[in-house]
Amino acid sequence: MSDTDLDEHAIGILKANDRGGYTVPTARLYPFQWNWDSAFAALGFAAFDRDRAWGELDKLFQGQWADGMVPHIIFWSPSTDYFPGPDVWASGTEPPTSGISQPPVAASIVAELVSTGDDSDLERASRLYPKLLASHRWFHTHRDPENRGVIAVVHPWESGRDNCPDWDPAMDTIAVAPDLETYQRRDTEHIGADQRPSTAQYDRYLTILTFGRNQGWDQQEIIRAGPFLVGDPGIHFILLRADRDLLGLAKRFGSGDDEREIGGWIARAEQAADGLWNEEAGGFTARDLRSGVFSSGLASVSPLSLYAGAGSPGQRERIANETRRIIERVRFALPSWDPDHPAFEQRRYWRGPVWLIMNYMIARGFREAGSPDVADRIADDALRLVRQSGFFEYYCPMTGEGLGGGDFTWTAAVWLALRGPEIAQGMS
Ligand code: GLC
Repeated sequence: MSDTDLDEHAIGILKANDRGGYTVPTARLYPFQWNWDSAFAALGFAAFDRDRAWGELDKLFQGQWADGMVPHIIFWSPSTDYFPGPDVWASGTEPPTSGISQPPVAASIVAELVSTGDDSDLERASRLYPKLLASHRWFHTHRDPENRGVIAVVHPWESGRDNCPDWDPAMDTIAVAPDLETYQRRDTEHIGADQRPSTAQYDRYLTILTFGRNQGWDQQEIIRAGPFLVGDPGIHFILLRADRDLLGLAKRFGSGDDEREIGGWIARAEQAADGLWNEEAGGFTARDLRSGVFSSGLASVSPLSLYAGAGSPGQRERIANETRRIIERVRFALPSWDPDHPAFEQRRYWRGPVWLIMNYMIARGFREAGSPDVADRIADDALRLVRQSGFFEYYCPMTGEGLGGGDFTWTAAVWLALRGPEIAQGMS
């Protein structure tokens, strides 16, 4: 298939996954609206239908809670294809949702749509701005409870990197609730179990979920006594980048007070990044905020510090060197986990495979940090994976095999975003 055929195919995937105002990540495996998937879907729609791009974001923020949280799943309509569904989460909200959030990429994507758009994009962005501000305030209030500046997640699912080895040390300390209700996974009915999280991990995911539900999703209680509280460099850096982009929006649409508040978040997060620096591993890694224990290896979120504009010159150099070492070890960059670490599994979800949304952000960071060679390699590998295997959820970094769900929304969206200028030429 030629690249222009693949453009058409990507557009077809976004249209086919549209459920009327929101887009599912893929049919059956993920039959609802997911938070950061939708933000990336908007980026993809923007390549051919800007009104639909804004509609996707508007719909996502219709699920926002009164306290500002944008939930990780919004259950707009029922489906038996997915577990755990709305009854298990019991959010008590309308629409029903999950009780945790996901990486806040929305403000960065809004800023992107504004910078490439016209007055009507500005108008749509101005309407979303107060909601974006509230969602960032929620993260700085409820995911940095001690004002240390390090952003935490209270569930591996909140990180968007469900079974990454980053969470292993904290997950190993969790005792499965003895009264955990029996449940039936649906994901392994759609996808081979060797490409998905293990049963032991699922038991713990549900133990953490049940704790939150039993607290009526009282965030203070979840932070105080919940089973899982881990500083996440992924969310930390994505939020820092998004705060900078939000500050740009605040200058257009917000007040002086907004600008000062956001400026304070940025300064604190820049400083606090050191709390996630793991000298032994050679990068920014996850860290259990209760025990102080670091994760023992490098995930693909360490270079997101460049995307966030954080880190000292020495840290940046080390990250560039480690990334180059990792690239040497694979055919397709960038694996979600270090191939030289014993926990690496090349086909299992976030324990090794390549995810194109990560490539999009990481390549951008390297480009902005003045390493175009690394940026080009990571962006090109994203395109090469699609040319070889089509639009999968994730890919084996060694063979390029497409894994997980097929006809995947955010993969199609990243293809369109990376191909952007060519598509515009093709259409003119
Ligand atoms: C998986 C991914 C998560 C994504 C969701 C829907 O749970 O780990 O990041 O949002 O699927 O695609």
